[in-house]
Amino acid sequence: MHPRAAAATTTALLGAAALLVPAPHHRAEAAAVERPAVIAHRGASANAPENTLAAVDKAAELGVEWVENDVQRTKDGELVVIHDDNLQRTTDAETVFPDRAPWKVKDFTAAEIARLDAGSWFDPAYAGARVPTLKEYLHRVESHHQKLLLEVKKPELYPGIEQDTLKVLANEGWLDQRHETDRLVVQSFSADSLRTVHELRPGVRTGFLGTAPVAMLPRYGRFLDQINPPYTSLHTGYVLAVHAFTGAHGQRLRVSAWTVDSPDIARTVASYGVDGIITNRPDVVMDALDGE
Ligand code: G3P
Ligand code: CA
Repeated sequence: MHPRAAAATTTALLGAAALLVPAPHHRAEAAAVERPAVIAHRGASANAPENTLAAVDKAAELGVEWVENDVQRTKDGELVVIHDDNLQRTTDAETVFPDRAPWKVKDFTAAEIARLDAGSWFDPAYAGARVPTLKEYLHRVESHHQKLLLEVKKPELYPGIEQDTLKVLANEGWLDQRHETDRLVVQSFSADSLRTVHELRPGVRTGFLGTAPVAMLPRYGRFLDQINPPYTSLHTGYVLAVHAFTGAHGQRLRVSAWTVDSPDIARTVASYGVDGIITNRPDVVMDALDGE
């Protein structure tokens, strides 16, 4: 059995007992503490259809501790996990609902979206995979004892989505101290949205997507914990500059870079001193960082 798979299996077997011991035995935690966290972007999205439960399962199978997702809202107010603001690329919506162009997520009910196939576009082997609700997604992540980098996607399209998201997180047990301090980060390209999250629920960790100007960091540090830039904009000096500031919870601002899929780039970005690497290929990045 692959070492990461063995680690994940061990974690699963520990079950509820894992809550009582110091840490699950994900490979990321067994490795040197200096190694950046590896975050499966939209789940293990090179191996399974992005943002589906299968992509979460695949990440767990690979021994990945963190998964990233994208959250949007249906016409009737259900939060669902999908990246694009329309259903065309990752579902069969055009076939099932031919008269509903432009197939915006916000124009479909949760029941309608639940009918769609979100797996066949990726590989026929995944036919029947669904667009998960956030509630379903949280259950699956929790079942694997994983951690979640939750992106509020295009909040400008969904007024009040911050409150809606926090409500689902609270209902599903994701806003207790254990989750708030160690298992959950809410990120967005919108600093305003993250400020809203912080004001509504100050204990939640937040991350800004983008290369925030250093001059903004004193202000951002009042409501943010992370600055998460595209790796193409990164260099050691920027990471050091971000680390020099304190975030909303009294620790240095952290940096997670996206989206890194090659071993060479993973090693280079790690050498900058980042805290996390967001990748579609978590197995490739973990192997690169572990020198395999
Ligand atoms: O987590 C970083 C990344 O997800 C941001 O870009 O478009 O893939 O959501 P995008
Ligand atoms: Ca995302």
